[in-house]
Amino acid sequence: MPLVSTKEMFRQAYDGGFAIGAFNVNNMEIIQGIIEACTEDKAPLILQISKGARQYADIRYLRKLIEAALEASGDLPIVMHCDHGDSFELCKQCVDDGYTSVMIDASHLPFEENIALTRRVVEYAHDHGVAVEAELGKLAGEEEHVKVSERDAVYTNPAQAAEFVAKSGCDSLAVAIGTSHGAYKFSTGNPKLNFERLAAIQENIPGVPLVLHGASSVPPDLVEMNVKYGGKMKGAQGVPEEMMAKAAREYGICKINIDTDLRLAMTASIRKVFVEKPEEFDPRKYLGPARDAIKKVVKRKLVMLNCQNKADAVMGAVTA
Ligand code: G3H
Ligand code: 13P
Ligand code: ZN
Repeated sequence: MPLVSTKEMFRQAYDGGFAIGAFNVNNMEIIQGIIEACTEDKAPLILQISKGARQYADIRYLRKLIEAALEASGDLPIVMHCDHGDSFELCKQCVDDGYTSVMIDASHLPFEENIALTRRVVEYAHDHGVAVEAELGKLAGEEEHVKVSERDAVYTNPAQAAEFVAKSGCDSLAVAIGTSHGAYKFSTGNPKLNFERLAAIQENIPGVPLVLHGASSVPPDLVEMNVKYGGKMKGAQGVPEEMMAKAAREYGICKINIDTDLRLAMTASIRKVFVEKPEEFDPRKYLGPARDAIKKVVKRKLVMLNCQNKADAVMGAVTA
């Protein structure tokens, strides 16, 4: 089965109250752990590649690994997505490389410039049958220092969302409602997402698939394990899983991005081997457990996203 587009996947997710896990990939063990979990649980999925991942692994290798994943997983619907494309040229290159979805992240630009750059990417991508994710608002986290008067300039402005989608032609929209990237998400120590803002966005652009970046939950057991085996993670905190589950089930969030939790799982398991078996130097003896740790954390996410056993329905829609 070839790579699929996000189109049917998101339609099913939107209507069915579930979200697709979008997992960042950088090497073979990460891809294998994700694929093993999703294959066992029959979950559709997105493998996303950042600019850094393209450079680190060399996209030629990642493409071949993803081809192998398609073969190994049987009939699983898999999307290959460009995460945080930062220019027209990068997005174009990704389309030319065979990605089936790209994100143009022009969220740092003024509103009209964000629309113009997104529109340019949309025109090229759509000509090649590739879907486009755009972003409106900045992933600042729910911080105390953001004044009420500044909130609409930082978080996604619901009133602007409709104009943005109509003018840019994007297929899905990443929104800023309090999440942020990395392992240290809420400087107040109090995890909080703005569900009212999310509801207002959904109301203004009904049917448009929404995306949450910075969605890792930074599981306390993985933080503890990292610390137990020598890591330093003071103040690490993520988005509580029940908040993500609510966003997926009730608010049109169709894609949930997860990178940090994979990094934590992988690093903790490697640290454990190094501490418990300092004599070990066979990479397979620590990368194997790391791959198992990725699989375990992905399985946990699939439950949270409510997307177990949704592969057949998505595949049916793709091939209809
Ligand atoms: O949102 C960013 C992702 O976590 C990718 O991170 O740019 O370090 O590959 P990266
Ligand atoms: P996390 O850092 O919360 O895993 O977010 C990843 C992400 O948004 C990738 O685009
Ligand atoms: Zn992101």
